[in-house]
Amino acid sequence: MADGDGRTDETIFTWGAPAVKFGAGAADEVGFELAQRGARRVLVVTDPGVVSTGVPRRIVDSLARSGIESEVFDGVHVEPTDDSIGKAAEYARVQGPWDGFVAVGGGSAIDTAKAVNLLTSHPGELMDYVNPPIGGGRSPAGPLKPLVAVPTTAGTGSESTAMCVLDVLAMKVKTGISHWRLRPTLAVVDPELTMTLPPEVTAASGMDIVCHAVESYTARPYTAFARKAPEDRVTYCGANPVSDLWCEKAMTLIARSFRRAVHRGADDVDARSDMMLAATFAGMGFGNAGVHLPHANGYPIAGQVRDYRPAGYPSDEPIVPHGQAVSLTAPESFRFSFDSAPERHLRAAELLDPRSDCHGGPREQLPWALVTLMRDIGIPNGIGAVGYTEDDVPDLVPGTMKQQRLLVTCPKTPTEDDVAEILTRSVTNW
Ligand SMILES: NC(=O)c1ccc[n+]([C@@H]2O[C@H](COP(=O)([O-])OP(=O)(O)OC[C@H]3O[C@@H](n4cnc5c(N)ncnc54)[C@H](O)[C@@H]3O)[C@@H](O)[C@H]2O)c1
Repeated sequence: MADGDGRTDETIFTWGAPAVKFGAGAADEVGFELAQRGARRVLVVTDPGVVSTGVPRRIVDSLARSGIESEVFDGVHVEPTDDSIGKAAEYARVQGPWDGFVAVGGGSAIDTAKAVNLLTSHPGELMDYVNPPIGGGRSPAGPLKPLVAVPTTAGTGSESTAMCVLDVLAMKVKTGISHWRLRPTLAVVDPELTMTLPPEVTAASGMDIVCHAVESYTARPYTAFARKAPEDRVTYCGANPVSDLWCEKAMTLIARSFRRAVHRGADDVDARSDMMLAATFAGMGFGNAGVHLPHANGYPIAGQVRDYRPAGYPSDEPIVPHGQAVSLTAPESFRFSFDSAPERHLRAAELLDPRSDCHGGPREQLPWALVTLMRDIGIPNGIGAVGYTEDDVPDLVPGTMKQQRLLVTCPKTPTEDDVAEILTRSVTNW
């Protein structure tokens, strides 16, 4: 669209974030916060692994101290599906009405709570709201109920984003709902809640932070998009000066504390605190700027899993955890996108690995920083280590190409052949 002055390139970006309460003990103030928002009866949404840490119980106690009645729904599926979200929404509809929701857990619990909030606040089915072309792309008709997000992993940044990610089982595809109304009202970020995270979950969810920060820092700038009317502007608007600040800071925190959080996480509160800040900061960056190729590849890598069962995660079904799926093609994806913005790729490498001993040329600096980190924290060595061979690449490529919402944010537009080459070169990363 050209506006009144005839401009066709975008000149406007929007940056949104929830209110944040951060620090040790913050989880005990959830009741106070919801009471300020007039809530009398709320649903706590969580998963069984998180229940066993005792954190949901603490939240229920905090709510009770503020005179708020609550129930716990602990049926969240780790990496939610259309089926698991449907069941959660059904439970909430039958047991409701609710004045608000508290999500306690990682991205799986927070995303499930966002969808439950949407589906109990407005008419319509889940697929009506899922991003097109997979779903109907409908916008919520009005505001949602207050949602307080209490993350217990340091990774997805879902506590600050307007996205809900889910698997559509029948199509074997990961997709989501993205609309600014889904963003939590308040993020209560308490680093002490992550002390119980197994090292494998710390590593995988931390790689999600790395990819969020680097992908949104290297995303197409918002000025490179066509001008849109305000009602048509998408949640992911491209790299912009405000998102850049959050991403740079997230990368600095990662460099300082990621390895320590994985290897000494049960004792090192400072490392856990840095990782929680990094996750929230990167969420404030990518949640507005967007992610691109590594995340687009991560969707079919996770969606077409056969029998990979990683340590640290529930073993009842195969899964490629989101943070692993998105990082496995990151080194090769950034080799590919390097030419589009060399200075940004170099700056990201410098922030992530300030004492790098990479002797390769400029294009190799960022892949080196990533591979060194991934080796140190025990991330699988490429898509080969989670069950794929070169022969699987033709089946994975269409899954990436379907993620047009993410690919438009890639600073260099990939063809099907480019994606096939990136996946093939990512069978092993070192
Ligand atoms: N909405 C967004 O913006 C966004 C962004 C990135 C990823 N995601 C989605 O988030 C999901 C992944 O979330 P995640 O990486 O945070 O992990 P998760 O929520 O799937 O949890 C992983 C495992 O860790 C356990 N766990 C969580 N906290 C724990 C703790 N403190 N102590 C011990 N165990 C704990 C859980 O029980 C589970 O078994 C994926 O579905 C992904 O697609 C969403």
